[in-house]
Amino acid sequence: MSVSNLERAAPASAARQQFALDVRRGLEQPCQKELPSTYLYDAVGSALFEAITHLPEYGLTRADERLLRRHSAAIASRLPAGTVVAELGSGSGKKTRYLLEALAKHRGLLYFPIDVSPTALAACKQELCSAASVVPLEHSYFEGLQIAAGRRRPGEALLVLFLGSTIGNFDRAGAREEFLRTIASILSPGDALLLGTDLVKPQSQLILAYDDRAGVTAAFNRNLLARINRELDADFDLPQFAHEARYNQRHQRVEMHLRSLRRQSATIRGAGLSVNFEKGETIWTESSHKFDLHQIPSLARATGFTHVESWVDFEWPFAENLWVIPANPE
Ligand code: AVI
Repeated sequence: MSVSNLERAAPASAARQQFALDVRRGLEQPCQKELPSTYLYDAVGSALFEAITHLPEYGLTRADERLLRRHSAAIASRLPAGTVVAELGSGSGKKTRYLLEALAKHRGLLYFPIDVSPTALAACKQELCSAASVVPLEHSYFEGLQIAAGRRRPGEALLVLFLGSTIGNFDRAGAREEFLRTIASILSPGDALLLGTDLVKPQSQLILAYDDRAGVTAAFNRNLLARINRELDADFDLPQFAHEARYNQRHQRVEMHLRSLRRQSATIRGAGLSVNFEKGETIWTESSHKFDLHQIPSLARATGFTHVESWVDFEWPFAENLWVIPANPE
């Protein structure tokens, strides 16, 4: 998985240029400095995220997997025979397998994992080729989805998977809704979306999940500055930035920040930029929105879908939500 799939796959130099522009734009913000969370996922960041999913404090990924293990048959029973599957982010083959096996009542179930990372796609193909005919699409989400939608045969419905609560990582509600509306616009009546959403839970539990005792999430967060040092020839003094996780009640989100431990400056040669930090000033690096169950059907309606059912894990409140494209949009 990665939110970075939201961007076009771009040649290395164009990608570096875009990175420099985004870093510059974020660090020049007059009130709150910020960096896009998509850049957390270079090779080091992706490995650290994988480690996070195994931490005792971070129950999100286990809840997502538990739900698919327990309810894949019920989810499949709500979908027409001959449904083909496209997954945004090639995901963990393990949890997708439960669903593919439940859907593969007939031979040759088509599965399109969509990711900009060829490594992730290759691993996914290897993991799932015994459960379905895997057709990896090395594209951005929307391009890949358009290809998958065009390749199914007449009469076949398409099920889109967007698991792991990546939908919570959009910084603003408007961007989240626009993303869902774009998915709806590519789909046809009868097509479906299975959307994973992490649910609101006690604040203390959320803070621990994003500020674990072993310091893995802190390393994941700080790696963003290390990446800027590596790729944009910068000189951030990493020990002088502390990881911070806060809960923003009004927006129902955990925010990750990096707090400057002293008055300091950093030069980012690759972005032609020098930035000053006051002691205590933060860079906002990620938002992870949490949902209430009652918000899910209205989010579906607002973005062109009809809510069908939510399956909820009560050990770690999390929901898999099945939505369909109605024949007659409201
Ligand atoms: C990928 N995403 C759903 C994770 C989350 O929980 O928002 C990313 C993450 N950030 C810190 N820990 C995990």
